[in-house]
Amino acid sequence: MESESGVEAKTYSRILIKLSGEALMGEQNYGLHPPTVERIASELSRTHELGVRICLVIGGGNLFRGIQGVTHGIEPTTADYMGMLGTVINALAIQSALESLGVQTRVLSAIPMHEICEPFIQRRAMRHLEKGRVCIFASGTGNPCFTTDTAAVLRASEMECQVIFKATKVDGVYASDPTIDSDAKRYESITYNETLQKNLKVMDASALALARDQKLPIIVYSILKMGGLQAILEGGGVYTIIS
Ligand code: GTP
Repeated sequence: MESESGVEAKTYSRILIKLSGEALMGEQNYGLHPPTVERIASELSRTHELGVRICLVIGGGNLFRGIQGVTHGIEPTTADYMGMLGTVINALAIQSALESLGVQTRVLSAIPMHEICEPFIQRRAMRHLEKGRVCIFASGTGNPCFTTDTAAVLRASEMECQVIFKATKVDGVYASDPTIDSDAKRYESITYNETLQKNLKVMDASALALARDQKLPIIVYSILKMGGLQAILEGGGVYTIIS
């Protein structure tokens, strides 16, 4: 079946979704916007109902951006750890919203914090996924200097996901910024190397290079479009595939 993007759709049974922390703040400039969190959870719940096994990596930029911390005099490594703590708060918020819809979940943190959630153990996470639980991976990679995009690729590889869905505010990868240039061209498909060479800023270079080496396709789609993810999984939808 062909999508609106004209790209042959595949059937995916195990996916990783990368959400930015900003996706959870709605129209606010900061923090968590409960109705937005609920809306995203209900989309994830509908996707889960399709029988798709879901892994989730969420950023922390709605609570703390490392780079801004650095400009305010916070030591870079400390700023990165503060960002990782932000991802734990977001993971718990999505967990709570999903479980209120009856979806079973487990939060697994790259930095052990036993009182709050499980530590990340790859084989344990695999069992959770096999049992149909949504696995929410918190604390990024657990190391400074890496983004949650890199964490998303790493976990997708470890969890044997077939694809990474990168949720953004636009419905794909554009040659120029579509929020500034209304004639910006959207790619239907693009290679990892082209994305890197053209510096298209979909993901940072480390994450893209890792995805390329692991042969993990990345589907860039809009989180703002209701039902966007489901439409892609059902063979339609609008997106760009990086492969
Ligand atoms: P099964 O092996 O399939 O039974 O998995 P399970 O996750 O249901 O079993 P387990 O008894 O390990 O976990 C029960 C609950 O405790 C789940 O909600 C887990 O997320 C939670 N849990 C397990 N380990 C930890 C931990 O180290 N810290 C925290 N905070 N919760 C944990």
